[in-house]
This record gives sequence, C-alpha cells and structure tokens, in this order.
Amino acid sequence: MTTTTTRTATVPGLAGQVLAGYGDRVTLHDLYDEAGASVYHDLAAVDTTEIRELLRSARAVPGPVLELAAGSGRLTLPLLALGREVTALELKESMVALLRERLTEAPAGIGRRCTVVRGDMSAFDLGGTYAVVVLGTTSVSLLDAGGRAGLYASVRSHLMPGGRFLLSTVDLTGGGPDDLDVEAMGASGRRYRMIENWPAGHEVRKVTILPPEREVPEDGPVLALTTSIRVLPPDDLTRELAAAGLRVVARHALPAASPRHTGVLLEAEAV
Ligand SMILES: C[S@@+](CC[C@H](N)C(=O)[O-])C[C@H]1O[C@@H](n2cnc3c(N)ncnc32)[C@H](O)[C@@H]1O
Repeated sequence: MTTTTTRTATVPGLAGQVLAGYGDRVTLHDLYDEAGASVYHDLAAVDTTEIRELLRSARAVPGPVLELAAGSGRLTLPLLALGREVTALELKESMVALLRERLTEAPAGIGRRCTVVRGDMSAFDLGGTYAVVVLGTTSVSLLDAGGRAGLYASVRSHLMPGGRFLLSTVDLTGGGPDDLDVEAMGASGRRYRMIENWPAGHEVRKVTILPPEREVPEDGPVLALTTSIRVLPPDDLTRELAAAGLRVVARHALPAASPRHTGVLLEAEAV
C-alpha cells in the first residue's frame, strides 16, 4: 500500500495552527490517497452541487460521454442514469476502486454501461470519440498550466464533431478573512471540520479536513486531509480554452459553493 504523508508544517493559516496544537499525533494525508478516499466519498455522497446543470447540458447532446477525474462516481452515476454509455477516467487507484464498487452496487445494472479507466486527464488517448466530455467539481483547477494544455489537447482529440466539453470552475465573490472554517456532515452521519485557506490574491486555496475540535480524542492519532486547488476564474479559463481551440459557447451559473465563491459551468466546442 502506498501512502502519501505530508508534513503539517506545510499547512498554512488557521488549519496549520490547529494541527500544530495536536503536535505529533497528526497524520496528514492527501485527500485523494487511501486514507482520504473514504472521507472524500462520504462527503461527495451528499453533495449534489452542479449535477442538475450538468445533466441539462449533457442531455442536449446525444451520444457517449467521457467523464474525467471521475472520483468515486458522484457525477458518473447520474450521467449513467441518462441512459448513456459512460467512460470514467480517474488517476488514483483508491478512487478507481471505490468507483468500481459503486458501479457494481448501482441499481438496474446501469454500472454495466460504464467503462472505468485509470489514467491522467492531462495526457490520455482512449482511441475513441465522445459527444460529451465532462470535467466537473472544478477539477480543472487541480492541474498546472502545462497539465491544462495537455488536457485541452486530449479533450479536443476525443470530441465528436458537434461535441461539447462541459467543465466547472469557481468565480470569486471576493473579500472576507483568509480562513473559512465550516463543519460538514457526510453520508455516514460523521462530521468534519473543513478549513479553507485563501488569502486575497493567492492563486491557490488550500482545504484541510479534520475532526471537529470536540471529537478530537485526548490521545491517539488525529487524521487530517489536505488538498490544494488553483483558482481559475471563468474569464481566464475561457481565454485559455480559446487559445487551445476550444470556444466557450455557453456559461451557466451554479449555486454558491461557499460564502466566498460561486460556481460556473462552461460549455465549450472544438473550433
Ligand atoms: C474534486 S475530485 C472530483 C471527483 C468527482 N468528479 C466528484 O465530483 O466527486 C477530483 C478527482 O480528480 C482526480 N484527479 C486528480 N488529478 C487527476 C488527473 N491528473 N487525472 C485524472 N484524475 C485526477 C482525483 O483523484 C479526484 O478523484
């Protein structure tokens, strides 16, 4: 088993201070590694963000769907429920395993219409084309500029004529403190403290997930999970897509993702 353990000293702001208070009891992992995947899935299972908007746009373009960065299938299952063939690409083995499990358990055998591929969205060649390529949950912002260039080239070569690339990103509502400290409940009923560190002007926001203060045991390990997300405002992303031969033809507002950012779903086509 490979495990990514990161040093707590790398966690900025409030989360860094809180973790420092727990000393060497903290085990810090990437949100998408083996330790983090089940927590991610627990939170994703109750998250309906952007599903309605995504399905509306996908429904308008009949044909097979390619979903990138599929994770544990939060969007994959609703896409399958449209009656389409879906290919779901995901980088992390831990997430691929969760996705396969969910597909097996999915009702009415809809999982049989899904092909799961372990791969990197910044460089893939699946040997086929798709009517719709989906990259949800603002996951485009997980890639650096080089990774995004590879993503756009790969997407272009996998789009059928008239096909659509649907991707979401966040828009800034601006202002506020550097740290946003909220509590969320997963599908299991378990509660999580989520601290987002995003100082004004920074291009990356860092999210740390840890147990609520009142649930931290007196002694023993404290699991903390972290992920870094670039901030890619829709206007910048639209320009970047255009330069890569993908023209944005529609833009849909998504419900507020947090008190300081709102989501946007972009629809692009190859030119
Ligand atoms: C924010 S999650 C979204 C997962 C899913 N779409 C959802 O809505 O729950 C991002 C996913 O992207 C995956 N990922 C990160 N980098 C990737 C890459 N280069 N290629 C493919 N998947 C990647 C992560 O492992 C994770 O499962």
